[in-house]
Amino acid sequence: MSEIILEMKGVRKEFPGLVANDNVNLQVKKGEIHVLLGENGAGKSTLMNILYGLYAADGGEVIFKGNVIHDNTPKKAIGMGVGMVHQHFMLIPALTVVENMILGMQEGPNPVINKKEAANKILELGKKFGLKVDPYAKVWQLSVGEQQRVEILKALFRGAELLILDEPTAVLTPQETQELFTLLRGLTKQGLTIIFITHKLNEVMEISDRITILQRGKVVGTVNTKDTNKQDLARMMVGRDVVLSVDKAPANPGAKVLEVKDLEVKNDKNLVAVNKLSFEIRAGEIFGIAGVDGNGQSELVEALTGLRVVESGEVIYNNENVTNKPPRYLIEKGMAHIPEDRHLRGLVLNMSVKENMVLEDFYREPFTVNHFMKFDKIDAYSKELIKEYDIRLSSDDIPVGNLSGGNQQKVVLARMLQRNPNLLIVMHPTRGLDVGAIEFIHKRIIRARDNGSAVLLISTELEEVLTLSDRIGVIYEGQLMGIVNQKDANTNELGLMMAGSHKAS
Ligand SMILES: Nc1ncnc2c1ncn2[C@@H]1O[C@H](COP(=O)(O)OP(=O)(O)OP(=O)(O)O)[C@@H](O)[C@H]1O
Ligand SMILES: [Mg+2]
Repeated sequence: MSEIILEMKGVRKEFPGLVANDNVNLQVKKGEIHVLLGENGAGKSTLMNILYGLYAADGGEVIFKGNVIHDNTPKKAIGMGVGMVHQHFMLIPALTVVENMILGMQEGPNPVINKKEAANKILELGKKFGLKVDPYAKVWQLSVGEQQRVEILKALFRGAELLILDEPTAVLTPQETQELFTLLRGLTKQGLTIIFITHKLNEVMEISDRITILQRGKVVGTVNTKDTNKQDLARMMVGRDVVLSVDKAPANPGAKVLEVKDLEVKNDKNLVAVNKLSFEIRAGEIFGIAGVDGNGQSELVEALTGLRVVESGEVIYNNENVTNKPPRYLIEKGMAHIPEDRHLRGLVLNMSVKENMVLEDFYREPFTVNHFMKFDKIDAYSKELIKEYDIRLSSDDIPVGNLSGGNQQKVVLARMLQRNPNLLIVMHPTRGLDVGAIEFIHKRIIRARDNGSAVLLISTELEEVLTLSDRIGVIYEGQLMGIVNQKDANTNELGLMMAGSHKAS
């Protein structure tokens, strides 16, 4: 029996009107990878925030390396050897890697921190753990995967022995995920312990030694990974059987809704990101775009939704040339957009859930009549959506930023799907959702199609694109490598196209 490095006993945490952690017991062994699994809002991030000293528990005990921790704070937790990489990154984009590392460390007897020394230490640590990072790169210039490496390195830099990773793979490509897993295995070999939160059951089976399942704030159980399987885990977590595949009738495409002709768009670095791209989508069909992240998907979506300038080419929407029209114009014409980054474009975090539900429509009837906002209407509408989309929260008056990650995503989805859009542009729709919620959202996207919406689906999850789409295009370096019908698609060919080879015809 190996040593227990962490024990949480009878931990309780209440938010007004809601018990987020209810008598939670958790034991983590030194050197293991321990997964926390549970539905959106089950209390995983809350429990880890207590361990990291960000939240004070209302009851219970945290015992780390044999010591009961009193009055925990992040500083104390870091000092003891706890490191955390949050669900939403906390780096400062305008600063360099090394500046981010030493941020908040300028205390103690020697107030001056030598940047050069820190940079050397970063390189040294990078070598030791096989993590390549340029200490002088600005964080905004790094890819998401690189930013994550910086977050991990930051924790190691501060001497972490227990590393908490809250949904680290939600934003990673499959390749980056594999790199992360190699890194994590290396870390445990050097004696580190890892607590890992993810909703992806394949990953749970692949990377973990043991799994603790939470349901509505309570622990359901702890199991050895080798004694369980995906179906059992889904059942323990959701409390019912989950259908992991999608049922859908063949598409019945109608009139042309969107036509993209020779579109050219540049990225933030002023390089061509979308390169003479053309495709069309009809009412009642789902057109999926698969591809490795960073091949022009973000720029394409931004150009279509009026958020980025089109350099050349045309966007024709319902027979109207809407190239470079502003977002509100497009929204009023029935376009809805589920953005890739819910924090940047999907939500106003410090506004209430209720207010977020009507961001596109608050100024129109029925929410505003004769210049007066009808708060009772907004209230009723919001309550209806919360119920229908099973959004777990204590009150719709709290800032949407206080919701769990998955519940924030559900707010964006509910708001957009409810508008019965004529064109629905969705990017990574199920990022951060639990398996039950994914099943529900997939059904909703298909229902939108069956009700006549034209749907553009962009996702790095090849499986998601494959199951939902009627036709699939593969994007590589801003160009479509080919378009295939769902029934003819095979993962192998798509994979090759994602790596840049043209469709064999
Ligand atoms: N600061 C807060 N104020 C009010 N409610 C909160 C706050 N933080 C969390 N909650 C609520 O507590 C519950 C647990 O949230 P938590 O973030 O721990 O869930 P989670 O298991 O991490 O879910 P997800 O998988 O969606 O990230 C949720 O219902 C959430 O809305
Ligand atoms: Mg969470």
